[in-house]
Amino acid sequence: MVRACFLLMLACALAGCKSVPPPTPLSQLNEQQMHGHALFETHCGACHYDRRDAALHGPSLLGVYKKPYLPSGAPANDDRVTATIMHGHGLMPAVGNQMDQQDLDDLLAYLHTL
Ligand code: HEC
Repeated sequence: MVRACFLLMLACALAGCKSVPPPTPLSQLNEQQMHGHALFETHCGACHYDRRDAALHGPSLLGVYKKPYLPSGAPANDDRVTATIMHGHGLMPAVGNQMDQQDLDDLLAYLHTL
């Protein structure tokens, strides 16, 4: 564990602390995460990349939960991401009105794999 931490810190230092571990491969997602992936494609994919570190209409969501802060500076946690989806944020419209609680949970489960 100590060694893993050290390697992580070393990797971080070498990469200038910008890189995050890669997303879980799609082939390894569980059923809930797969459903979340499908929801992402439907509700988010037009404006956000999930597996590419590049902005589309909005910022990339690659590693969204692996970084401490969202692009706005808000903490990267389920509450803030849920609020963003349900109420929108800045230039992003609210997009959660067609999703029920289960969908939302599944989508967040997918975002956690990025
Ligand atoms: C119509 C385009 C559009 C759609 C659809 C969209 N977003 Fe966004 N999103 C944006 C834009 C633009 C921003 C940047 C907002 C700003 O900072 O003004 C953003 C920002 C965000 C942020 C960062 C918020 C912060 O505090 O920095 C998150 C997280 C996010 N979107 C998640 C999602 C998720 C998850 C979905 C799908 C459920 C989604 N978005 C759908 C356009 C979109």
